Amino acid sequence: IRTIGVLTSGGDAPGMNAAIRAVVRRALAKGLKVRGIRRGYHGLLKEEIIDMSARDVSDIIERGGTVLQTARCKTMRTEEGQQKAAAICKKYGIDGLVVIGGDGSFAGAQKLANLGVNTIGIPGTIDLDIACTDYTIGFDTAVNTAMEAIDKVRDTSTSHERCSIIEVMGRDAGYLALWCGIANGAEKILMPEEKHYDEKALIEDILANKKRGKKNYIIINAEGVGDSINMAKRIEDATGIETRATILGHMQRGGSPTCKDRVYASTMGAMAVDLLCQGKTNRVVGYKNGQFIDFDIEEALAMKKTIPAYQYDVAKTLAL
Ligand code: F6P
Repeated sequence: IRTIGVLTSGGDAPGMNAAIRAVVRRALAKGLKVRGIRRGYHGLLKEEIIDMSARDVSDIIERGGTVLQTARCKTMRTEEGQQKAAAICKKYGIDGLVVIGGDGSFAGAQKLANLGVNTIGIPGTIDLDIACTDYTIGFDTAVNTAMEAIDKVRDTSTSHERCSIIEVMGRDAGYLALWCGIANGAEKILMPEEKHYDEKALIEDILANKKRGKKNYIIINAEGVGDSINMAKRIEDATGIETRATILGHMQRGGSPTCKDRVYASTMGAMAVDLLCQGKTNRVVGYKNGQFIDFDIEEALAMKKTIPAYQYDVAKTLAL
């Protein structure tokens, strides 16, 4: 390996900058050249490629977002796009590519590996929805950001003795909802992994909760369930309890990364470079059972992730 390219792809996540910095500096320390690719695969196809020095990644470890910027790229799903991307990598001498993103980004990396570009994926998403790893860059920051916001909603919810529905991100996964549900002591967690939720039972529980003397009812609703605004109207109509919906939205994706996100992202960034130098390709870095490890991309993409049943059960019993 002589030249390593690095890009961020898909939704940005706090800690991506720490990973970029680690890739750049680890590679430079090994005497390699580094090229930054702007705007993900979209930028690669447009040849938005810049040389990166150690100074280019100064003062970024503490910043949210991604200095390389990011995009979702449909063309990269086509064979034509993949061929073009591989040819551009070759043109710029990029013989090792680090892709920081989610499952969709890894699928692109896998195709490039098949076309002769050595690729390593790093899991970067606030959704925690990558099956081969217990940690993804950005989740820790996002879940803490959401938790703090929900604490604030709780203050006003208690004062007005309301029911509050707070919708958190997560796409088709309920990890942000589950963690906030436990951390914020929610009465109810709604997640897309549970096929249907029983609204009648929910309404009865809200009424029973009031009888138990509780001053509010917090529902953490995952965006994969959605419908928070209408749900609030239905609950208010059925219970007579004032109900408000808050959709936290993109504020969950921003902000300075937590210590954990900085440290884990830095470790994964450095590890991606080490793997390339060991001659590995078509791999994704993961964190499992307290260790940083790597998987074949295809195997990683085939893995299924489930919501931890015990934790979910704990959450339910603590809402007494
Ligand atoms: O994957 C991260 C994420 O923030 C999801 O939680 C959410 O569904 C999606 O991205 C939103 O994407 P966009 O910023 O393109 O609206």
